[in-house]
Amino acid sequence: MASLPSIEFVAKDAPAKGVLVVLAGKDAGLAASAGDAVRSLVSRAAGVARFKGKHLATLDVLAPADVDADRLLVVGTHSDKPLTDEDWLKLGGVIAAKTKGASEVTIRCERADGDVSAAEAAMLAAGASLRAYDFDLYKTKSSRKNGDDEPKVASKIALAVADIAAAKDAYTVQEAIAAGTMLARDLVNEPANVLGPVEFADRIAALSQQGIDVEILGEAELRALKMDALLGVAQGSPRPPRLAIMRWNGGPDDEAPIAFVGKGVVFDTGGISIKPAGSMDEMKGDMGGAAAVVGVMRALAGRSAKVNAIGIVGLVENSVDGNAQRPGDIVTAMSGTTIEVLNTDAEGRLVLADALWYCQDRFKPKFMVNLATLTGAIIVALGNQHAGLFSNNDELSDRLLAAGIGTGEKVWRLPLAPEYDKMIEGKFADIKNIGGGRAAGAITAAQFLQRFVNDVPWAHLDVAGTAMGSPANEYNQSWASGFGVRLLDRLVSDHYQAG
Ligand code: BES
Ligand code: MN
Ligand code: ZN
Repeated sequence: MASLPSIEFVAKDAPAKGVLVVLAGKDAGLAASAGDAVRSLVSRAAGVARFKGKHLATLDVLAPADVDADRLLVVGTHSDKPLTDEDWLKLGGVIAAKTKGASEVTIRCERADGDVSAAEAAMLAAGASLRAYDFDLYKTKSSRKNGDDEPKVASKIALAVADIAAAKDAYTVQEAIAAGTMLARDLVNEPANVLGPVEFADRIAALSQQGIDVEILGEAELRALKMDALLGVAQGSPRPPRLAIMRWNGGPDDEAPIAFVGKGVVFDTGGISIKPAGSMDEMKGDMGGAAAVVGVMRALAGRSAKVNAIGIVGLVENSVDGNAQRPGDIVTAMSGTTIEVLNTDAEGRLVLADALWYCQDRFKPKFMVNLATLTGAIIVALGNQHAGLFSNNDELSDRLLAAGIGTGEKVWRLPLAPEYDKMIEGKFADIKNIGGGRAAGAITAAQFLQRFVNDVPWAHLDVAGTAMGSPANEYNQSWASGFGVRLLDRLVSDHYQAG
């Protein structure tokens, strides 16, 4: 994996070698402490370059003689609206990109209108790390774009801050969230020959090092639990399914947990209702929901969040062999509901049907949020810019919408209604696993999931368009985004953690 920059926090006035980064506000204004020489130089250069200090705009200047650094990078932070968490990540990402190859970078975390807070500085640092992420595991030296000698980011980034201890504490939190995000990206980027259900479960088991309790259920246990909806999907692959249960117990013993559930289809061929060949490779990312669940559990544990959280992922391969499930097959889910499998490519909902039921039945959670790369229809509706949100609970829904705006992992609510539920009524069984043709495809999938949810507050995030394949941005250059980790972490920190 490409190496991440080392992050350090130093005193506000620590000397800077290499590249010195200063933050500019409105009309390129700098903090008074930048010094007269720097301020007059930047003001002249800004005039020539029409640099106005706009958020994410940059201006490169040779450092004046009385500054130790060689290069001065001025980065705009001005916006008409207060900067969000994502805006700070983007700043870190832009700084990382503009200083790549430098051996040392010092960022003065100060603006004309005051110090950058510890939390903001920490997010900026996390943004630089996330930008550095590059899934180049399978590139041998000769095929790496820049060769091995030219690093993609600075090797050392020092943030000069007012309160070093506070910034370090804040960074412990942001570092954990970034680690969770990068773990999710890794899992999605890995090809399916490397990451089958068993290998995915092994990676989850390794999280016990983070203090997460992990239980892995194998085929026989799933059979005993009567998870025939999930098992039906897995039966066309020689690679056996797994159900992984993660528990982070950071809250009071007697408090009900919150729960995250993920679709973990390690590869989706479509089964007997096989997919067309074009872009089928992207179906290695059909475990993006599960990856986000694993990532958020890693984040919560890494920052010792005071919350009890459960993560459950159903891991299967939807493949096709002589034993594969056929269109028309009828399976009985763990809940007792019978399902006509009219299209074997609508498999995610079959996996989640049993995972959701199991989760609420065993853990009686305060709420359940499931994430799944569930439908192509959600990409038709929302593209790569929002995940689809479906919920039986307005409060949970509003909280997710707000967390989405703060983190930039945006969600958009779509309806659930009896009229749509009617579209999945079965002819030979209780329900069928597809709706009526192409109409409302993302909604009928959500209605299907809701059949396996009782009164517990629940939300379904369809992340087919956001977990992978989004355009690269300031803090993610990789195919997989890690979408959902920051969103759910924020949901927890805003509403569900003690202290
Ligand atoms: N994994 C796919 C959905 C998907 C499509 C994810 C594109 C990411 C990118 C899912 O299992 C699927 O195949 N859904 C079908 C459902 C249909 C058969 C009712 C779809 O969306 O076409
Ligand atoms: Mn499918
Ligand atoms: Zn799928």
